Amino acid sequence: MSECERKQGDQAVELGPLQPGGKAPLPFVLVIFGASGDLTRRKLIPAVFNLYKQKLLPEAFSIIGYARRANSDEGFRDQMQRAIEEGYPDESLDGKVWEAFSRRLFYHQANLEDISGYESLKERLAQGGCGEDHGCNTLFYLATQPRYFVSVVDKLHQVGLNRYDRDQGHWSRIIVEKPFGIDLESAIELNRNLKKAFLEEQIFRIDHYMGKETVQNLLVLRFANALFEPIWNHRYVDHVQITVSESMGVGRRGAFYEQAGAVRDIVQNHMMHLISLVAMEPPFSLKPDVIRDEKLQVIRALRPIPPVCALNGIVRAQYTSGTLEGQAVCGYRDEEGVAADSITETYVAFKAMIDNWRWSGVPFYIRTGKRMPVRITEIGIHFKPVPKILFNARESMAPNCLTIRIQPNEGISIKFQVKQPGPAMVIEPYNMRFSYSGTFGHSPPDAYERLLLDSALGDATLFIRSDEVEAAWAFLDPVIKGCTRFDQPATYPAGTWGPKEADDLIEADGRKWYLTRMPRGK
Ligand code: BG6
Repeated sequence: MSECERKQGDQAVELGPLQPGGKAPLPFVLVIFGASGDLTRRKLIPAVFNLYKQKLLPEAFSIIGYARRANSDEGFRDQMQRAIEEGYPDESLDGKVWEAFSRRLFYHQANLEDISGYESLKERLAQGGCGEDHGCNTLFYLATQPRYFVSVVDKLHQVGLNRYDRDQGHWSRIIVEKPFGIDLESAIELNRNLKKAFLEEQIFRIDHYMGKETVQNLLVLRFANALFEPIWNHRYVDHVQITVSESMGVGRRGAFYEQAGAVRDIVQNHMMHLISLVAMEPPFSLKPDVIRDEKLQVIRALRPIPPVCALNGIVRAQYTSGTLEGQAVCGYRDEEGVAADSITETYVAFKAMIDNWRWSGVPFYIRTGKRMPVRITEIGIHFKPVPKILFNARESMAPNCLTIRIQPNEGISIKFQVKQPGPAMVIEPYNMRFSYSGTFGHSPPDAYERLLLDSALGDATLFIRSDEVEAAWAFLDPVIKGCTRFDQPATYPAGTWGPKEADDLIEADGRKWYLTRMPRGK
């Protein structure tokens, strides 16, 4: 190889942001709006604490919890300590480490809609009011109800806390939690408002599914192995199944869920990312926009389902009372905050087609629901059967299937045929399995850890760009409109795998819903 070719080769493998061993974040302050809420307690503070324990944060960083409720720095620290102890009962909290961490926690009591709260926040930040000098790097986290998003962003703009100096390396960024709008129109409006105050590169729209190790591993599985890519297309793949099942009901989120339903809550975001990572073309680099461009192409290639087709093509259902893990559970309409005559779907199943060369004619069967028998997120790549010429001339053998188990018992499994030892030619399917916990000794970390670290580093690869959000809504808006015109969803008893109509949907094509048994994680 000539010197020149070697140099070109080196350039081609320039490390992308997903590569390990990268830089540490610059000093920063994390400001959480909605700090007295559930998300802060259950996810955000435990995730930042874990990053701190692993020494992945800069020496100079702190957290300001911004909320209306009366509280003090000390009170906030105590609450967060309790939240971690309750959330992680199996881990004993190292008193010294917690003590050092909690000194970085501060509480800012102020109203979300009152400009004076932001002015005093700005003063506090300017004075290094959190005990350290953090330069001017600020990471704002919108952990509030969505109706406050625009107001908070607008006030940050008004007081000049949206500053960004690319040359000096001083930044402010904003992390926005889903839902990103409730339809295409509101998503465009939200994006427009966010962009009035922040540049797209400062906006980090978070979908925690993208932070799951197993979801990121989809890129590695597909593009770091020679084995799969050549058969990852319509010539070899018969169909793809994606299941996101939850055993939980809507819990205390009934009022929110009434406005959302399964399509908005899961399909518009988590499911779209799973589909696009499974179906995307190989990106030419791991740079954030290159990956996001490829994801976007998949969403844009989804065959539209016009409202009139939604009636036949989309199965919507709602859970009624039933039994789960031996316990009687109520139906959706009896949940707190849910209308007695609600028509909101807690389950949805449909067939998506991707109209591009690679996936031409390959159905993607999608299903998601609450109060199903177990919590499983799984992607199944079902390959075409071998020709019925040799071994399966008389009866058909189970075709090969590659399963990617996103959660729980995270892992990958490949089903293939083996000959049973003995004189007869008896063939049976065998599953070869890889398990994260079995191999690495522990289950993958919580998605928020990775996402918070990436946003502090400014790596937007795993975050959702405005055009991805809008493309997903453009696909789903007609579906939602079509479905809700036909009112009453089908029903399924809690603790079952959804309504009969979902079985009919896939069986009409001569296929069946399928899940793989994976070894238990630790
Ligand atoms: C959230 C939805 O985005 O994802 C919830 O709003 C759902 O309704 C949750 O329960 C599922 O997340 P996970 O990580 O438990 O699969």
